[in-house]
Amino acid sequence: MAQQDWWRSAVIYQVYVRSFADGDGDGTGDLAGVRARLPYLAELGVDALWFNPWYLSPMKDGGYDVADYRAIDPAFGTLAEAEKLIAEARELSIRTIVDIVPNHVSDQHPWFRAALAAGPGSPERELFHFRRGRGAHGELPPNDWPSQFVGSTEPVWTRLPDGDWYLHLFTPEQPDLNWAHPAVRQEHEDILRFWFERGVSGVRIDSAALLAKDPDLPDLATTPHPHPFVDRDELHDIYRSWRAVADEYGGVFVGEVWLPDTERFARYLRPDELHTAFNFSFLSCPWDAEQLRASIGTTLAEHAPVGAPATWVLCNHDITRTVTRYGRTDTGFDFAAKAFGTPSDLALGTRRARAAALLSLALPGAVYVYQGEELGLPEAEIPRERIEDPMHFRSGGTDPGRDGCRVPLPWTADAPHAGFGGEPWLPQPDGWAAYAADRQAADPASMLALYREAIRLRPAFGEGPLTWLPAPEGVLAFTRDTGVRCLVNLADAPAELPAHSRVLLSSGPLDPRGRLPRDTAIWLRA
Ligand code: GLC
Repeated sequence: MAQQDWWRSAVIYQVYVRSFADGDGDGTGDLAGVRARLPYLAELGVDALWFNPWYLSPMKDGGYDVADYRAIDPAFGTLAEAEKLIAEARELSIRTIVDIVPNHVSDQHPWFRAALAAGPGSPERELFHFRRGRGAHGELPPNDWPSQFVGSTEPVWTRLPDGDWYLHLFTPEQPDLNWAHPAVRQEHEDILRFWFERGVSGVRIDSAALLAKDPDLPDLATTPHPHPFVDRDELHDIYRSWRAVADEYGGVFVGEVWLPDTERFARYLRPDELHTAFNFSFLSCPWDAEQLRASIGTTLAEHAPVGAPATWVLCNHDITRTVTRYGRTDTGFDFAAKAFGTPSDLALGTRRARAAALLSLALPGAVYVYQGEELGLPEAEIPRERIEDPMHFRSGGTDPGRDGCRVPLPWTADAPHAGFGGEPWLPQPDGWAAYAADRQAADPASMLALYREAIRLRPAFGEGPLTWLPAPEGVLAFTRDTGVRCLVNLADAPAELPAHSRVLLSSGPLDPRGRLPRDTAIWLRA
């Protein structure tokens, strides 16, 4: 595969900087921590790093409230350090993907501060969605739009003392930008250039389907079609101009596009728009052979006509960690179903997560690995008084929030705070050190060893399409053009392996008769 097509089959590691590694000992992960761990990432064998927002931010939503897209938050480091990191990673053949948050800014962003100061009717307010309220005295919000934090009962409008309301699909500290304004478009194209010029190879686009709004901001109840703020046609024009910018630098996009309609989803991946988008249907899919087969099949079918590669994602900084999810009765993922105290069989979940790792790494397309997934970290239950995620607070305290997958990583079993650095900003649960990278590196049966080996062997599948092979019920079996096969057994009964095949890698031991046990995956060469 040509160098410039790296993204079509890359393994991309997601770095949540705040929780990755703490270089200066203040309890918050930082760029120094990442730079020190680059050899670990190179040894893991990943092709690129996607960094969650690392910009100047009041951290009201973990950095998704950006006050300056051209500055690194001082808690993480400096711009000069980011440039060094990008260059050092590149020397190890690891590319960098930054996370751009175009739907909203922080309420501390200079534009929003200027809009507040300038008052109702000012041109400064036109960069956002300011409106008068409804009701006799404007005391009611301008429309009925629901929060984009699933489960949130909080309004998406906040009223100012001067009587104006402003729109924020997420928290009040994240005012939505007005994408019908040319200055908003110009600014973001400049931001893209800013980062491409600093050597980044790609951009993840946050909340990519939410930017465009119906200019009349109508009630959703009366005007559901076209949706007043989800997946509007105007977005495609925005992304076409973004694509032109990216093409100047050979940069690529990955969109955070949550859309149930596969045809609508694929429209974002047309050749002159985004290169890739996250596959949330695979991520949400329960651990069930038929449903996984259908999800994989639909994914490949929806991507084929637009010529875009699929992406395979099992979790990220918003989602319950894989080993915990797969150890539950309900193995799918649904924000609305999140609750405190959901039991999980972690041994079972880990077995399945190991199999799922081999499954996703065998599929055609790009694979995302969220930091700590390669260590098999479970979701942590964060004590209520330590929770920081606004999703928890905006649900009225019923949703545990997303901090449970954002706990600072364990690096060294015998060091304080499991080698993360200073006293971590989120508490590490008891037993966290058992997952430490140094311990796993020394154990050939560990999750880390499995990921390293799988990423190393993955090219054996080649670049070709997937062909399903006949298999008993509950077993997924497929090959790619090199003839290497992947089998995953989700059935109760052990599965026979094809004769005359050599085992490249398996997620767990075979049974005494050489058969593939339940919840186990294997890679075979004919
Ligand atoms: C995306 C991010 C999430 C954030 C939200 C608002 O969904 O992944 O973490 O809270 O956008 O920016």
